[in-house]
Amino acid sequence: MGLDLTILVGTMTGTAQLVAQELELRLDDGDTRARAVLMDNQDASVLAGGGLFLICTSTYGQGDVPDNAKQLYGSLLTGRPDLSNLRYGVIALGDRTYADTFCNGGKRFDRILSELGAQRIGEVLLHDASAGTMPEEVAAEWAEGWIALCRDLLAAAST
Ligand SMILES: Cc1cc2nc3c(=O)[nH]c(=O)nc-3n(C[C@H](O)[C@H](O)[C@H](O)COP(=O)(O)O)c2cc1C
Repeated sequence: MGLDLTILVGTMTGTAQLVAQELELRLDDGDTRARAVLMDNQDASVLAGGGLFLICTSTYGQGDVPDNAKQLYGSLLTGRPDLSNLRYGVIALGDRTYADTFCNGGKRFDRILSELGAQRIGEVLLHDASAGTMPEEVAAEWAEGWIALCRDLLAAAST
């Protein structure tokens, strides 16, 4: 059985979008359908129907979600929909020079989604822009393991 994955992208200067596009290329293989969607103008209704999502977002300000993610994040906080049919992973982009708020944008999404009953698959990927590694390469490697976990979960759910 194939997977239908939506990658929701929160970005200020395009890095998270680059990561999402790389994942789309690597994961969309006929069996898995992967599409990247910018968070611009989205609200909680994009998640309320359930399914499989990857949140791919950077961090700005005082450990905030990027501007294009604010409407979606805010509508989760205020609307508090039941997300018990949602499975998700998180790719959090940040920079360890912001020691107190490292990758908080992704961590904020992880916290609210789990509070609303969604089930996270795997560990959150934290990428440090100061580490000298390419985020799209690190994310592509991480996503191989993550998608395998998703397949296992789907197979277990269908037996
Ligand atoms: C003004 C500014 C504020 C930032 N604040 C944080 C922060 O609080 N915590 C963090 O981990 N990274 C922070 N970052 C780092 C970015 O999240 C990181 O560079 C990320 O890769 C950018 O991705 P994007 O191009 O998709 O927005 C900040 C970067 C800038 C330019």
